[in-house]
Amino acid sequence: MTKLVVIIGITGNQGGSVASTFLRDPAWRIRGLTRHPSSTASRALTAEGIEMVHADLHKPSTLNNVFKGASLVFSVTDFWKPFFTPANQEKAKELGKSIGRYAYELEVDQGKNIVDAVAKETAGLDDVGFVASTLCHAGKSSEGRYQELWHFDAKADIFPGYLKETYPELARKTSFLHTGYFFTSWGYMPGRWFAKQPDGSIQMQFPTRPDVLIPHLNPRTDVGPFVRALLQLPPQSTLMAASEWCTWPEWMKTWGEVTGVRTSYKQVSVEDFDKEVPGGAGKEIGEMYEFSSEYGYNANQANTLKTWDLEKMGIKIPTMSLREYFEAEDWIAAGILPY
Ligand SMILES: NC(=O)c1ccc[n+]([C@@H]2O[C@H](COP(=O)([O-])OP(=O)(O)OC[C@H]3O[C@@H](n4cnc5c(N)ncnc54)[C@H](OP(=O)(O)O)[C@@H]3O)[C@@H](O)[C@H]2O)c1
Repeated sequence: MTKLVVIIGITGNQGGSVASTFLRDPAWRIRGLTRHPSSTASRALTAEGIEMVHADLHKPSTLNNVFKGASLVFSVTDFWKPFFTPANQEKAKELGKSIGRYAYELEVDQGKNIVDAVAKETAGLDDVGFVASTLCHAGKSSEGRYQELWHFDAKADIFPGYLKETYPELARKTSFLHTGYFFTSWGYMPGRWFAKQPDGSIQMQFPTRPDVLIPHLNPRTDVGPFVRALLQLPPQSTLMAASEWCTWPEWMKTWGEVTGVRTSYKQVSVEDFDKEVPGGAGKEIGEMYEFSSEYGYNANQANTLKTWDLEKMGIKIPTMSLREYFEAEDWIAAGILPY
């Protein structure tokens, strides 16, 4: 008898990686949730043998039966698409809130609806039966210094906050995956990752100190292997999903070696960073970079396992290196090169 894994966000980066991992294991069958079962992405997943089911994380009635029969649920919530959706920006204005605060509320709504629905199926879940993609609580970790890292706090307020307070039995079957900076995030603000300099070189400009080690993640290939690893650990584990740890100057140096471009790194202030980022996200993203300098990306939470802790337990997670990713990416098609 195959076991059922239900994957939220299956048409996206993280959920897609989890699907690829479980597709290779005949012991599992997959149900994927989507708002658009007839989209191209959904149809491609159906063609691979995945049961694609309609669900909208903002509509609890659509979540009533979708977790039935599951041994495992993987969840991810979304912040940035709601943040950049013009209708939400309008709505936030109407409500007299910042778009960050409003997108926080939307992400919290998604998370609560997921937890409420999965909790009804707690009895059928495996001992590690719920894996939630989340981040640390920047507000609490910084004792209030960072109060507007909404996309961190929204995740942490639910996973583990609301989950533990409301459904202790489900919380006992849950493990948490903290996801590192995506290899692919340069696409959102190439001007700060690859600032073209008059002398022909390219400079990365972030508010992070140049000596701080950062967890970097290929979300499209490596989230699945990290979820598999969590299944080999006791429930209630927290694992940092990082394909590679390096400083931002090291990230840039490797990119320069692969592309043959001279590179440098400059630490800038959040204010300077904000000026160059379109769409009103600059302050929050800039503070995220600064927060990872001051407190560590996941606030150096003592209970968080890292890849090297797992290696000591004999668990080796197959990941893609930054160099491999840089070599595979088409920097010309992306408009970054030639310069
Ligand atoms: N960029 C980074 O460096 C970084 C680092 C760590 C964490 N993160 C976090 O990663 C998260 C995004 O993850 P991702 O990149 O894997 O997602 P993604 O590729 O942007 O895809 C979003 C997924 O969520 C689903 N989804 C969104 N809203 C939904 C709704 N209302 N109901 C049902 N499904 C919904 C979408 O499904 P359908 O469209 O098919 O319905 C899609 O599968 C964000 O919260 C972000 O903060 C990002």
